Amino acid sequence: MKPLNLNAAWLSTLLPEQFKFITSMRGAHFAYKFLFKKGHHLFIIGTSGSGKTQKAYFVLRWIKTTKEIPIWIDSAKNGEMLPLLTMGTPVNIICPKGCDVVISEWSKDESKYVRMKDHPTVVQVPDAGSAWWAVKKGHINIFCFRVAFSSDARAREWMAELFTTLSLWIRKNRMPHILPFALFGDESHWFLAGEKITSDYQRKVLSELITELSLEDRAHGARLVLMAQSYKSLPPASRENMIHSLVCRGCKVSPDENNALSPYNQYSSKYPANKGVFVYEGGYTYPRNEQDVGYPWPFPFFPMPPLKLEYKGEFDDPTPERAHEEELEQEITPDLSKYNALCQDLINYKIPATINRYEVINND
Ligand SMILES: Nc1ncnc2c1ncn2[C@@H]1O[C@H](COP(=O)(O)OP(=O)(O)OP(=O)(O)O)[C@@H](O)[C@H]1O
Ligand SMILES: [Mg+2]
Repeated sequence: MKPLNLNAAWLSTLLPEQFKFITSMRGAHFAYKFLFKKGHHLFIIGTSGSGKTQKAYFVLRWIKTTKEIPIWIDSAKNGEMLPLLTMGTPVNIICPKGCDVVISEWSKDESKYVRMKDHPTVVQVPDAGSAWWAVKKGHINIFCFRVAFSSDARAREWMAELFTTLSLWIRKNRMPHILPFALFGDESHWFLAGEKITSDYQRKVLSELITELSLEDRAHGARLVLMAQSYKSLPPASRENMIHSLVCRGCKVSPDENNALSPYNQYSSKYPANKGVFVYEGGYTYPRNEQDVGYPWPFPFFPMPPLKLEYKGEFDDPTPERAHEEELEQEITPDLSKYNALCQDLINYKIPATINRYEVINND
């Protein structure tokens, strides 16, 4: 493989550390075998604290250098979406209507937390399908759904609708122009079901949907990057379709489940949190084995910025004021359905003080 057979214009957009990595043999394999292959899923597996989320930030920082739109499904755990705000790309938060996400920073002048400068855009959507319409190109998009409902069951209903609309619209060619994209699912057990957790009906539905997504939608450029503590956290048919894996500490896979990953069982318990092995399609790795330099891979660290994150409101249990506002909105505005998200830009639009009715409108 020729490490320097890469587009010069693209190389010029990279950070120095990214340039160094991608022009090495290890980076070239990563680029040609994974990064440039739209729809190629990745499964990041490791026990708690093994560095899965950190490795996902690394992958996302690479994805955003390509034409793929990154979409991060927020786990709402320990502010884990905040490092995404430090990547030099605008962030677009998407949450259900009636909810809000507020990020504040410490103001020395005022001695208190104030809404951060350059706050990410927050788009509130009336239903799960509209979330796809709210995704913006040139942004890191974050779906903040997990704590936006009165119960986990309601949140999973929303996720089921999200995945159903995705598969249906892709099949019917009705998706907004956001493909190719990469959908990152941290703590994916909350919206997925593997062998361990299939008791409730919704989880079963979600598990079937994610399988369909991993199988069919990849051909259209929908890539999944899922993180979980065990191989079996994903439903059987979808874990078999994950194509690539990132083995972190404590990843254990039985040989009859996946014999490309099972050889790591004897080593993975020793991997520190900043290391892991990228296992490409068919079990290929580079560097090749435990004795080689740079094996397992070292990964960079993305620190938590000093910001405060607050989630507000519940979609299905609005405050009395919000319920009243919604009633008024329904009376005066037509139902724009999926176009609601697109109308967000008009929210701060100021009507001109004077309107010249006789103004000539150029017809160019
Ligand atoms: N590349 C790295 N460099 C330095 N430290 C790291 C790196 N990756 C992870 N760590 C350390 O490991 C800790 C856990 O990392 P991370 O949150 O990514 O793990 P995780 O597998 O996602 O954990 P959980 O299952 O609890 O979500 C980090 O807070 C950090 O201290
Ligand atoms: Mg994590």
